[in-house]
Amino acid sequence: MKKKVGVLVSGRGSNLQALLDACADPVFPAEIVLVISNVPGVHALERAKRAGVATTVIPHKGFASREAFDAEMDKALRAAGVEIVCLAGFMRLLSAGFAEAWRERMINIHPALLPSFKGLHTHRRAIEAGVKLHGCTVHLVTPDLDDGPILVQKAVPVLAADDEDTLAARVLEQEHLAYPQALRLLAEGRVRVEGNRALIDDAPTDNA
Ligand code: GRF
Repeated sequence: MKKKVGVLVSGRGSNLQALLDACADPVFPAEIVLVISNVPGVHALERAKRAGVATTVIPHKGFASREAFDAEMDKALRAAGVEIVCLAGFMRLLSAGFAEAWRERMINIHPALLPSFKGLHTHRRAIEAGVKLHGCTVHLVTPDLDDGPILVQKAVPVLAADDEDTLAARVLEQEHLAYPQALRLLAEGRVRVEGNRALIDDAPTDNA
């Protein structure tokens, strides 16, 4: 049985697209059953519709508190039978309660090699810091921002001629590889958490 996935988005949705493309493979162990956006009219919603995936817009502005907004998302995810949540360019902080409720079943992609460069403007900050390697991280979500056990990382070189945009583009290519890989690991039940570490069990083999 494929694991049912809900994806939370706020914008362009290129990582959502990478997940949709991976899920189109009949042997991929997960399927996307719902895409939730907190922003109406974003391109991510078009991508979901084009793939025949149900969408819901839950504008955060209509809620008195973060908890109330998160409760509405939680309700929609559970109604759709979601088992794994993917944050894909979702630009809202999550309440601790929501993060706890989905602990070890919710993943995020961050455009930096965590624990370096948490937060925003990661590419600009990487260039300013003079690092030679930069990249992306897919991690399990905990109540702390851009924290939690790491599932997959991919590194890219930072070149002397890079500006924020060229570096972002190089990282984004790797994001689109990393996110489906991480979702596959989680969906196949191969992730074991020990303290701050996610340990990955070997791939099941055909003759196991
Ligand atoms: C990506 O760089 C992702 O790492 C970050 O937000 C961006 C979203 O891009 N969390 P997209 O909407 O997936 O194209």
